[in-house]
Formats: sequence, C-alpha cells, structure tokens
Amino acid sequence: MATPSIDTLHATLAPFGQAHVLKFWDELDAGQQSELAAQIESFDLDQLRELYQSQDSENHWGALAAQSTVPPAITLDDFADEQSFESAYQTGAKLIGDGKVGMIIVAGGQGSRLGFDHPKGMYPIGPISEKSLFQIFIEKVIARARQFASTIPLYIMTSPPTHEETIAYLNQENFFGMNPEDVMIFCQGVMPAVDGDGKLLLEEKGKIFVSPDGHGGALLALEKSGALADMKKRGIEHSFYGQIDNPLVQVCDPALLGYHSQSGSEMTSQVVRKSDPFQKVGNVVTSNGKAQIIEYSDLPEENAKETNPDGSLRLWAGSIAVHIFKTDFFDRMSQTANSLPFHRAHKKVAFVNSSGESIQPDQNNAVKFEKFIFDLLPSAQNAIICEVDPADGFNAVKNAPPANAETPDHVKAAISDLHTRWLNECGIVVNDEVKIEISPLFAPDSRALKGKIDADPNFARTISADTYLQ
Ligand code: UTP
Repeated sequence: MATPSIDTLHATLAPFGQAHVLKFWDELDAGQQSELAAQIESFDLDQLRELYQSQDSENHWGALAAQSTVPPAITLDDFADEQSFESAYQTGAKLIGDGKVGMIIVAGGQGSRLGFDHPKGMYPIGPISEKSLFQIFIEKVIARARQFASTIPLYIMTSPPTHEETIAYLNQENFFGMNPEDVMIFCQGVMPAVDGDGKLLLEEKGKIFVSPDGHGGALLALEKSGALADMKKRGIEHSFYGQIDNPLVQVCDPALLGYHSQSGSEMTSQVVRKSDPFQKVGNVVTSNGKAQIIEYSDLPEENAKETNPDGSLRLWAGSIAVHIFKTDFFDRMSQTANSLPFHRAHKKVAFVNSSGESIQPDQNNAVKFEKFIFDLLPSAQNAIICEVDPADGFNAVKNAPPANAETPDHVKAAISDLHTRWLNECGIVVNDEVKIEISPLFAPDSRALKGKIDADPNFARTISADTYLQ
C-alpha cells in the first residue's frame, strides 16, 4: 500500500495537536516515512486525548476502602486442614489430568529496573543451576503435566521489545524439553506515551515512542493471536496465570485450582497476608459484591492501618499477581468493549526535541498508559482469593543490586530457603550456609519430593554441601 502523503497525515494529526511528529518528514527515507505513517494510522488519537485529559487519580479510594471488606478467602488454615486440602487437591488434580488446564506467563515487560539487556525471562536465577526464569517456568509446566500424565499448554505473552529475542532463545534451547506444539508465544500491543502537554514523543526522527500496553494487554492479545481459540479447541477450562519474574509461582498448583473450581470462581487471585499496612502490593478488597484491587499508592493511610478487634489488618490481602481465569470469562470479557481501563504512569522517556537533539530526561517527563489484568476482578462471578505464605510462592526479580529487596540475590536465596524447607519437612537435615536447589523435574512441590524421598531408602539424611537435585 502506498504511503499516505504528508498532507493526509497532517490532516489526521493536526486536530489533535500532534502534527509536530512530522517535523523531520523530509529527512526520512521512503522506508522510514512508511513506518512512521503506519504508526500514526495505528493510533487512536481520540482515545489518547481522552486518556491524557482524564483525572490522574479519582479521589474516591478512601470512601471505597472504608466500605470494603476482603473477598471470600481460602486461608492458610484451609490449606492446613487435611480434609479441605485433600478434596481441593483431588479436584485440581482431576482438572489437570483431564487436560482442562493451561498456563499463561506474561513476559512482555521491559525489566527497566533490573537493567538486563535481554528479555527478563532469560535472566539466570537458579541459585546453583543458573537456569533462566524461562527454563524454570517451562520445567515447572512439564513437571506438573507429568505428575498427572497430562499436557498443559503454555501461552507466553511477549511484547514488541521482547518478542523476537524470546522466540530465538526458546528455539535455540529447544523449548527446554517442552513439545513446541504445546507452546504458543503471542505478542501484546503497544501504546504511545505523551509529554506534560499531551504531545506524542519522538523516539527517533522517524519513530514515535511506544511501549507495551501493560500486562492487561494480555486480554486482547490472547484473543487477537488465536491463543484463546486454541484454548477452546483444546478444551482448556481454566488458565493459571503468572508473571515471568517470580520463579516461586506454584505453577498450576492442584489445590489452588481445586479451590477455584469448587467455588465456581471465574477469577481466583493468590494473595499474601500483608506484613505491614504499607506493603507495596495491591490490596484485594470487595465492595457491593465486587472484588477489586486498590493499589498501595491509592490506599489512604488511615484505611491501610485499620485493624480487626484481634489487632490483625482489616484489609490484609495483598495481590501477588498470580491468578486463575476461567476460559469462558476471558471469552466474555474479550467481547466486552473497554473491559479494562488504562492507568497512567509517570515515567522518564528519552525523546528527540524539536531541534532534532536526543534528550535524556533526569526526571519524569511522560505519561504512559497501561492496562492491568487484575482489573478484570470486578467483572468476575464468585471471585475468591487464596492465601499463600510468601516464602512458598512470592519473590520476584525486580531490581538491580544494591537495592535492599527484590534483587536476583534475594530471589536466589528465597529459592534455596524454600527448597531447604521442603527437605526439612521430609526429615532431611540441611546444614547452615548450604545452598539447595531442586529442579522442578526432580520434584515440582514438597508433596512430590516427599513421595520421592520416602521411596528412596538411600537418600542422604544430612546434606552438608551445596546440592542441586535434578
Ligand atoms: P512490571 O510492571 O514489574 O514490569 O511487570 P517489568 O517489565 O518486569 O519491570 P520494570 O517495571 O520495567 O522494571 C510485572 C510483570 O508483568 C509483565 C512483566 O513481564 C512482568 O512479568 N508485563 C508488564 C507484561 O507482560 N507486559 C507489560 O506491558 C508490562
């Protein structure tokens, strides 16, 4: 198709005050002009203007928090109750065994805080093995499927900045042993950002700055890519959802799936009991029968600090971005226009100014627009939350050292501590300072490990050197 003329593009942009992006048009070659024109035509400038003009944050969070409670919850006490747990476990095990469970991993983020020059999933995180986040996740999926003699298809969401490299990496690694036919890599969309005056930013003279449209972009991308159709074709009824940066995710945990299914929940979220009122996790609350998340930055201090008569936090449930979705729910929501709102984030974005100079701002100069998958919660029927001990399920790689939390070293230590505890629960003594790593293919969880150790009379009763069980 021929590239539209500069006059046509000008006529599209000018009513929205965005014609400045054509400033360097005459300096561009034909290929660059055509790419810039395609970018311009892909934008919804009306929507962008509306988003820019919308309030930064509506001031209703205090009122909402005051009238909210916590959604129906399966707590650690329920997981510890043998009868309740066993019934949930068997329900989940059957779903997996019957091939009704899929796994979604979102890996489209740019990992800017970590400062790693590749998709975050390629980051080596195994405390001894140095396996990458992708390898650990994929082996968890393989192991879980094997446990129940089934197949769990894996849907990996990338974004334009991570897509090609992720595909090349997984191909080169032969999908870490997973059948490529059971892996679908799909790419999310992008959104332009604007400056303080609502103007588009040029990343280069012939390229408007865009960035991935948030993990909530998964909803549209699942539909557009055919991943949702693939789920339906395979008879997948529930999708387990995790983020690539948390290698502790209890991938397709049978009990979690069981509680979700037994509750008739369309969307189940795993939560931690907040360790302090201001912990930086989204607060899962319910009001008028609708579950939703209040971001920690939006929860007023007095609501965050409210306690129950026993002194525990009233709004105690912090989201760790692990969810289970019913396929029917995805299907319904992907047919619903604007089912996910955009959130605004103030960020630093390098740009080319009107003199053609590249500017590296030292403070936030742009507003990015992102969708969050957890905004599906209010639309879900019978949404429940399931508590997990963070030591069992939550430690994400976010920051580069020397940050005091969420660095690769913190996450490696959390993996080693968890696997040490699994061994301890099997009666194995692990000496202090010893690092432990258990491959998901050796045992995907403590229950599987116990079965394996009980069946092996020669398994060492004491471990005194760094050990990788594989
Ligand atoms: P974060 O918001 O923590 O972003 O994403 P990030 O890319 O990992 O790191 P920063 O903020 O740039 O330092 C949480 C999860 O959501 C995914 C990420 O890949 C990560 O698994 N995500 C985020 C997407 O898949 N797409 C997005 O547009 C944003």
